[in-house]
Amino acid sequence: MSQLGNLDQWFEGRSAVVTGGAGGMGRAIALAFAAAGCRVTLSDVADAGGEETARLVRDAGGTAQFVHADVSQNADVEAMVEAAVSTYGGLDFAVNAAAIEFEVDFLADLAEDDWDRMLDVNLKSVFLSMKHEINAMLSSGGGAIVNIASTNSYRPQPHQSAYTASKFGVLGLTKSAAVDYAPRGVRINAICPGSIDTPMLRGAMAKRGRDPQEVADRLSLIGRFGTVDEIAAAALWLCSGASAFTIGHALAVDGGYLSR
Ligand SMILES: NC(=O)c1ccc[n+]([C@@H]2O[C@H](COP(=O)([O-])OP(=O)(O)OC[C@H]3O[C@@H](n4cnc5c(N)ncnc54)[C@H](O)[C@@H]3O)[C@@H](O)[C@H]2O)c1
Repeated sequence: MSQLGNLDQWFEGRSAVVTGGAGGMGRAIALAFAAAGCRVTLSDVADAGGEETARLVRDAGGTAQFVHADVSQNADVEAMVEAAVSTYGGLDFAVNAAAIEFEVDFLADLAEDDWDRMLDVNLKSVFLSMKHEINAMLSSGGGAIVNIASTNSYRPQPHQSAYTASKFGVLGLTKSAAVDYAPRGVRINAICPGSIDTPMLRGAMAKRGRDPQEVADRLSLIGRFGTVDEIAAAALWLCSGASAFTIGHALAVDGGYLSR
């Protein structure tokens, strides 16, 4: 008889943090963790969208609070984790999804300020988030963290040097933190999304004047974009006890793009 049972058994009454929760994948992840029974602290710099996500959770019968936090700022990230611990009694799970993507130039034309901003929001943020999340998890007996990387962590798209460097870095941080903390009960993995239908993807295609179906055909084996719920399902599994032996892994959810 299988011991796996229903995934929800791992989540009822537990505390989860989701960064970038105002929209896109972060919103879907916050909704999925809340639907599985978690009490969710979601953060973002976009206050209206973040409050809207918290309202959507509550309307569906779940529990959530929104905290304004710029993930590139240590004090904001520390306050976000403190809010989860003080309101919901600890921290069990975290999904670090916040990021930006705005490049259209070749590397030699990229402004230094843009490089700094991209690396601060996409990579330093993951260091800061894990730093505070791990400390909170260690003091409440362990936990699980999922960092959202990208298929760019393996195969860059054109004109995305800073974004690609940041996402390679997210994998490095994920794996080194996994090595350090697995023996202490904090399990750390990454998801590498392919082309997922979110405001970030739609914005990137619009900036480059790309036809969505041409992009979907080129960047997946099945001619469509992924959905935010397909990423949320992977994040839930990676935080559940069903993946207890999966550590330091980068899970591609990419319609087969990286297998080609
Ligand atoms: N959409 C895709 O196709 C795709 C592909 C690969 C990887 N990703 C990654 O998935 C994650 C989620 O992306 P998405 O597509 O949902 O994007 P999105 O733009 O819809 O959501 C990202 C969220 O991060 C927030 N954010 C931006 N800067 C922030 C900051 N400084 N502090 C806090 N929050 C901030 C935004 O306000 C937004 O709500 C990102 O890490 C992204 O790099 C996306």
